[in-house]
Parts: sequence; structure tokens; C-alpha cells
Amino acid sequence: MDLPLTAGWRCAVCGASVDIAEPLVWRCPNAVGDDRHHSLELVQASAPLRSTDDANPYLAFRRHLAWDGFAAALRLTDAARDAIVRDLDLQVAAVAGTGFRTTPFARADALSDALGFSADGGVWVKDETHNVAGSHKARHLFTILLHLVTTEVAGRAPWATVADRPPLAIASCGNAALAASTLAAAVRWPIRVFVPPTASTAVLARLGELGAQVVTCPRVATDPPGDPCVHRFREAVAGGAVPFGVQGPENAWCLDGGRTIGWEMSVQWAGLGGAAPLDRVFVQVGGGAFAACLAAGLREGGIVPALHAVQTRSCAPLERAWQRSFDVGGPGAVAGHWTECMWPWEHVGDSAADGILDDETYDWIPIVRAMADAHGSPVVAEEAHVVQAAEMLPRLTGIDASPTGTAGLAGLLAVREQLGADERVAIVASGIRR
Ligand SMILES: Cc1ncc(COP(=O)(O)O)c(C=O)c1O
Ligand SMILES: [Zn+2]
Repeated sequence: MDLPLTAGWRCAVCGASVDIAEPLVWRCPNAVGDDRHHSLELVQASAPLRSTDDANPYLAFRRHLAWDGFAAALRLTDAARDAIVRDLDLQVAAVAGTGFRTTPFARADALSDALGFSADGGVWVKDETHNVAGSHKARHLFTILLHLVTTEVAGRAPWATVADRPPLAIASCGNAALAASTLAAAVRWPIRVFVPPTASTAVLARLGELGAQVVTCPRVATDPPGDPCVHRFREAVAGGAVPFGVQGPENAWCLDGGRTIGWEMSVQWAGLGGAAPLDRVFVQVGGGAFAACLAAGLREGGIVPALHAVQTRSCAPLERAWQRSFDVGGPGAVAGHWTECMWPWEHVGDSAADGILDDETYDWIPIVRAMADAHGSPVVAEEAHVVQAAEMLPRLTGIDASPTGTAGLAGLLAVREQLGADERVAIVASGIRR
């Protein structure tokens, strides 16, 4: 039997650690009250990424998941761990129409031509539009679900019966809410979704079909500054609900499964690109968990392209943090300088890429470090490029991605003239157009 690779978590900000065997610990132990300026990262032995070639990434890369180390520490055998993933995947497929399957990653020839790349260079697109719930978000949430179910199976849950399960909670009205409600429905776990009064009726209808309890959150007079949905979400979590969202500081376990996308891409790249390295990856950044996990997954897969975190002109707190970092010791030293570098964007404007308008980049520390490690940089895309990317990618690739899902391409468009024609560039079509 292979030994699990993960020892646990360590907070990049305060140094606190959490043993891998601890059930139901979601945050840094020092992230108390409303303090979320903590950033747990995995402590793992380095081991070459190995896939078993299973089509399901949670099976193919199971050994590399922190969840696998957790389940092993709770004395579940290899066979039992495999069975948990398989069973849950079947339940997910029954609700979502698909289980977790390696998603396509291929050179987009027409797009590469249109952007003037040579035959050696080009744009490779990872297509998440047919993943569970139509975006990459479920990848992150599945390791939280695995953690919950494993805690129950191992007899370590503090609730007595299934009827006593604490509800799941998420503040979102987009892809994350849909993914969370899909996974919750798969295992019939109650979920409360905190949404703004402006939430789209189509999303609300789907959340209702999935059996989620939708809680509309207008601002109330006694609210402190910040998003009322987040206030209500935090109150629910303080009352015992399980944080079931895609923000590392609220639940670090979302950072485990999010890496599967980078693991898949690194294995696929080895099969596709031959010996040539991947030069750059442009990734859209909202709360930042996605980019943090993509970078970690690629690095663990042994490919380290320059990372370009893409935000829109309407809301670019990560780019500001990157610039600020040079006043506090550089991008490698930001962990001790949260308040000097990262704070909510004061006046969030509109953008067609409305899924990346998070006023704060919660998972900014690992992204800043990953950009520094691989000679990357942030890119702020003008709205014209956001709109152009949203039109171009579906037309030239046939991938029906949303403007948020094509925002990485907007970043590429913004800097295309600075790149060589022979460069090999990856983007992720991260969510379907609804
Ligand atoms: C399709 C899509 N892509 C990318 C993102 C950004 O992910 P993150 O918030 O983890 O940065 C989101 C977030 O809502 C999304 O819905
Ligand atoms: Zn901490």
C-alpha cells in the first residue's frame, strides 16, 4: 500500500497547523470571529504525479488528494477510499447527468490562426463547460463533500443520524451555487444558498429544482460594510452550518480537489505537446481559488508555465496587491502583509464577465507567489477584450462558454502583441453560457 502524501495544513499567514487526521476543521484555527486573513496550504511530500488512467480524476489521482490522506488517517482502507469516490460519483451523475470525467484539453487551431500563432505555437483550451454543473466549480466542492461523507463513514461525525446533519451553506448566485446545490442534492444533504436580491431568476429556478433553500439577503441597517450574503453565510456557519463554498479562507478543503484541473492538464500536455514546454497560462480570477489550484496542480504535474492572473478593469484587487507587494519585500514575502496589499475594491464596475467581480481576491497569496515563481504577471483586461473573447471563443472553438468562462482569453488578447508567434499558451473555458 502506498503511504498517503499529505501531512496536513499550515497557515501561510500565522504559521498555525492542522493535522491531516482532524475531521471537520475548515479554517485556520486562528481565523476566529470575522477574521479571514488566514491562508491554509497543504503540507505534502513531493512525489511525481501519477495517474492510474481512470477517467474519473478523483480516482486517477486519488493518492495525491489531501482527502485520501485524511481518509487513510481515519483508517479507511484503499478499497474503502476507492469505493467512497465511486459511490459518490454515481450519485452525482444521477443528479447532474454526468459524473466527474477528465475534461478535454486540445489545441484550438482556428483560434490559434486568428491570433497569428505559428504552427509550433498556439492556444490550447481546457473545456470545463461539460463538467458537473457546467463549470469547474464542482471540482473544488467535491473534496469537501468527500471529507463530510468520510467523516460519517469513519464514525467520527458529531451528529447522530443522517437526519441530524448540519446544513451546508454557501454565499453565491452563480456557478458555485449551482455546483454546491447539485452535489448537495446528490447526497440529499440540506443546503442553504445566500443570494443577493438581484440574483438571476434562471439560477434561482434551478436552485429550487435542486431542492436548495434559497435565502435572499438584502442589506439590513445593522450590517457592517461588506456583502450581506457573506454576513448571513458567516452567521449560518457560526451557528453550525458547514461552509460549502469555493473560497480557501472559508473552507480550505476546496483547495484540494480544485487541483485536479491542473493535474489533468499536465498529464494531457505530456501526451499532446510532445517535448515542447507550455509557455503561459492565462486564468480568470475572481475569489482566486481557481487560479491558486490550477497553478498548484500544474506545478505538481511538473509543468510550470508563466501564470497570468486575469481580472477586468472593473475590479482588479489582485493586480493592485501585486504592485503593492513590491513595497513590502516582493511577491514572495506577501503572506505577512495582507492588509497592506489586499483589501476590497472600492467601486466595482460592471463587466460581461460578472463571475469574476469579487471585490476581494480571497486566495491571493498562493496566486501572487505562483506568478512570482514562474515569471508570470497579472493582466487587467479592458471590457472590449472581455466582449471580444466572449464572441471569439465560442465561434472559433465551438465551446459554448460564458463571458466569465472566456475571460482568460481576454487577458491573452490584451497582451497578444507582446508574445511570440511560437509561444504555447493555455486558457480554460471554465463555465458554460447560460
Ligand atoms: C466560470 C467561472 N470561471 C472562473 C471563476 C473564478 O473562480 P474564482 O472565484 O475561484 O477565482 C468563476 C467564479 O465564479 C466562474 O464561475
Ligand atoms: Zn492562520
